[in-house]
Amino acid sequence: MSDHTIETARESDWDDIFRLVRMAFLYEHSDDMSATERKVCEIDRTLVARRDGELAGTSTIQTRQLAVPGGLVPAAHITSVAVAPTARRRGILTGLMRRMFDDALAAGEPVAVLWASEGRIYQRFGYGLATASLGFTIDRTEVSLTVPAPGGRLREAEPAALRDELVALYDRVYRQRPGWSERPPRLWDYRLADLKEWRQGGAEMRAVAHYDESGTIDGYALWRPMRRWSDSGPASEVRVIEHVAANPQAYIALWTYLTSVDLTKTVHAWFAAPDEPLLHAVSDPERLNTRLGDGLWVRVLDVPAAFAARRYTTDIDLVLEVTDAAVPANTGRWRLTGSPTGATCSATGDEPDLSCDVRALGAVYLGGTALTTLAGTGQVIEHTPGALARADAALRWYPGPSSQEVF
Ligand SMILES: CC(C)(COP(=O)(O)OP(=O)(O)OC[C@H]1O[C@@H](n2cnc3c(N)ncnc32)[C@H](O)[C@@H]1OP(=O)(O)O)[C@@H](O)C(=O)NCCC(=O)NCCS
Repeated sequence: MSDHTIETARESDWDDIFRLVRMAFLYEHSDDMSATERKVCEIDRTLVARRDGELAGTSTIQTRQLAVPGGLVPAAHITSVAVAPTARRRGILTGLMRRMFDDALAAGEPVAVLWASEGRIYQRFGYGLATASLGFTIDRTEVSLTVPAPGGRLREAEPAALRDELVALYDRVYRQRPGWSERPPRLWDYRLADLKEWRQGGAEMRAVAHYDESGTIDGYALWRPMRRWSDSGPASEVRVIEHVAANPQAYIALWTYLTSVDLTKTVHAWFAAPDEPLLHAVSDPERLNTRLGDGLWVRVLDVPAAFAARRYTTDIDLVLEVTDAAVPANTGRWRLTGSPTGATCSATGDEPDLSCDVRALGAVYLGGTALTTLAGTGQVIEHTPGALARADAALRWYPGPSSQEVF
């Protein structure tokens, strides 16, 4: 029998929740941080586990839309998962996760998404790795852009001064970028809060916006200078926080700017897409010093609702046989009929073309991972010859998914 209880948090739990999260994530206390985190925490979607009358675990869900191929779906954005160091490995996370799955389904969210502190934690709960993050550490003296900077105008300003324009542009762009999330006003407050504790020794966050010939904003970057001086001269770093461009002109103009700031030597970025166009617009791609890391983990909670909510690159009609240990309602055979303009997914008794665990569906959901790749390790079985290739042609999506922010 379990030695703990799990319930919805109350306002009065906040100080204990914040303390537990900072202990689990190993950072020191800060009143500013507590106040800033509190403003984004939806207490009525926060869980607390208690053991012997003390807070032993917590997790929370942010209510946000997620961009998926061809549309938006309500997605439970899971974050701040922490279990007290003295209460680990007793099933508390397992209990929190089950309860969050029930709560998300009750809220009409067919998928849950999260960033993992360690990839090994969440696969057992049915999460698949849906996006990878490409990182760059560019020595800007060795790399130049091969595409000329176009027209338009750049403007540097305090991020807060540009806020309304950034919000409007992000809201327009994220809908076409699978893996990016809606950002309601409280999460914009959080994004721009720029607490000293988050700067890692760098200076204040800066914003640069790009405007087209008609004076309309069509791109922006948020970045932070990391001031360094070496024996041989200036060696500061541009740390790219966010790069959002609505068209190629803004895309190139912003990268040209970020790779040419005076007194800087390196440019560091974490959240580029695996198929980032920059790879094809520089003199020496190898000198971008790329690194591929985890991005967004996706858990499909309601197979028919999730797959009916996205769109498909080509017409598709096939039967998927799915197993799901944690959400048994997903176990069964599903006929997926989809096209670039619509989709249905419903239970069927027909013979399957493909079979897999729900984890594989999470990995392919945003259109960046191929079922064929997973079949290469036996995680997807093809029963009908050609079904894998047909499914991949329909499920893959362009632009491929990427991840804009850790939440
Ligand atoms: C990760 C964390 C939440 C796990 O909580 P927990 O209550 O110990 O997890 P559970 O007891 O429910 O573990 C369930 C299973 O996952 C395994 N597991 C959990 N965390 C793991 C980890 N970090 N590495 C490897 N295995 C892990 C457990 O061993 C257990 O396996 P079993 O079912 O085979 O016995 C907790 O260790 C923690 O707070 N870590 C620090 C903060 C953190 O990384 N949070 C996650 C943020 S994304």
